[in-house]
Amino acid sequence: MSEITNSPRTRTQELYERGRELIPGGTQLLSKRPELYAPGLWPAYFKSAKGIEVTDLDGRVFSDFATMGIGACVLGYGCEAVDEAVIARIRGGSTCTLNAPEEVALAEKLVALHTWADQVRFTRSGGEAMAVAVRIARAITGRSVVAVCGYHGWSDWYLAANLTGGDALGGHLLPGLEPAGVPVELTGTTFTFRYNQLEELQAIVAQHGARLAAIVMEPMRYVQPSDAFLEKVRATADRLGAVLIFDEITNGFRANLGGSHLRLGVNPDIAVYAKALGNGYPIGAVVGHGAVMDGAQRAFISSTSWTEGIGSTAALATLAEMERTQPWAHIATVAEKVKQGWRELAVKHQLPFTAAGDGNLCVFGFGPGKDANASRTLYTQEMLDQGYLAGAGFYPCAAHTHAAVDQYLMAVDQVFARIAAAAANGGVRTKLKHREADQGFRRLT
Ligand SMILES: Cc1ncc(COP(=O)(O)O)c(C=O)c1O
Repeated sequence: MSEITNSPRTRTQELYERGRELIPGGTQLLSKRPELYAPGLWPAYFKSAKGIEVTDLDGRVFSDFATMGIGACVLGYGCEAVDEAVIARIRGGSTCTLNAPEEVALAEKLVALHTWADQVRFTRSGGEAMAVAVRIARAITGRSVVAVCGYHGWSDWYLAANLTGGDALGGHLLPGLEPAGVPVELTGTTFTFRYNQLEELQAIVAQHGARLAAIVMEPMRYVQPSDAFLEKVRATADRLGAVLIFDEITNGFRANLGGSHLRLGVNPDIAVYAKALGNGYPIGAVVGHGAVMDGAQRAFISSTSWTEGIGSTAALATLAEMERTQPWAHIATVAEKVKQGWRELAVKHQLPFTAAGDGNLCVFGFGPGKDANASRTLYTQEMLDQGYLAGAGFYPCAAHTHAAVDQYLMAVDQVFARIAAAAANGGVRTKLKHREADQGFRRLT
């Protein structure tokens, strides 16, 4: 608590204090915890958001150079074409006893975008769409074991990988994910392999190949596939009769109309979308080819909220707006400009620094070194003072103009200078107004 009560108290901070008491873990999504950015300072709640501008409960306005709704708002906040379509749907009713016709139009559209696919099921969040995909794979193969690479949500099938006592999922985006509440009987049903490490997948196959229901992975996240990795994974799935599931929840619609696999030239059996598909309105899609999607007829997969009309309406409008505006070249240019700017400024201020991200999910780290996490926290703290939401990840969107990027990089220049000065004068920790940010999952109280 003291990390909050020590702050100049704002309405935003006060509400978060109450939110932490009433809501276990404070937020519904780990990545929206202020403790991951700058504890006691990061504005937990927004009153409004438009373009890249976010207004908190105290009327403070920030430019979002963080993740634009954890990657959901590729067209920017409050995209009018999408909002207008949603408002019209709401005026006609968003839910009733009957189904929303937009879901057929959306399925039609997604099948047309994926020439290898025939059918689609819808959910409202990414994690549940992944759970549906894995259920389908297990139903159609009659097998249990999953080989997994990367992060795919909060479900039992995924967290089961950590039941062996170690942090098998630790090298897959989020360290420290506790399998508490996951039946121990699921031990030995999910095994991890790392990206571009074919031999790790082969080791799983050697032990469990005959029981393998699915191989689950993002086609790419921060680095490109090397040595025909995706083709070899595809061939492995084919040889074993396992279902290849590509998770495009974060990558999808960021660089092209559809998933990254369409650019990389390897087709899965199932591709899963959420986030950007509805530009922030809740919609998840499990796109698959007919033979595999038959598993969705055999298995019981059903939910009331998956039938409402806002998600599918928002997705149709998002796809139409993306087709009209073709935002991807701009997003790629912004990503390169920011990464280049980070690197040049780190050299200028002689900061130990690594910037990653072959695509447009840009991430950096201060380090190596013992001050890496404190420097990241100080960066966020100082950028907030300059009017920016900014952390170690930047997910550009259509609404990041070149002028906004230029201004942002000027602010980064000043903040990097302060971090370098702090490091030279006995350490960055002394400059933190509160404690260092958390890294990954941990209990809050
Ligand atoms: C690759 C990937 N899969 C699955 C998920 C889970 O999606 P959601 O948070 O909508 O449940 C995420 C969320 O960040 C993700 O990045």
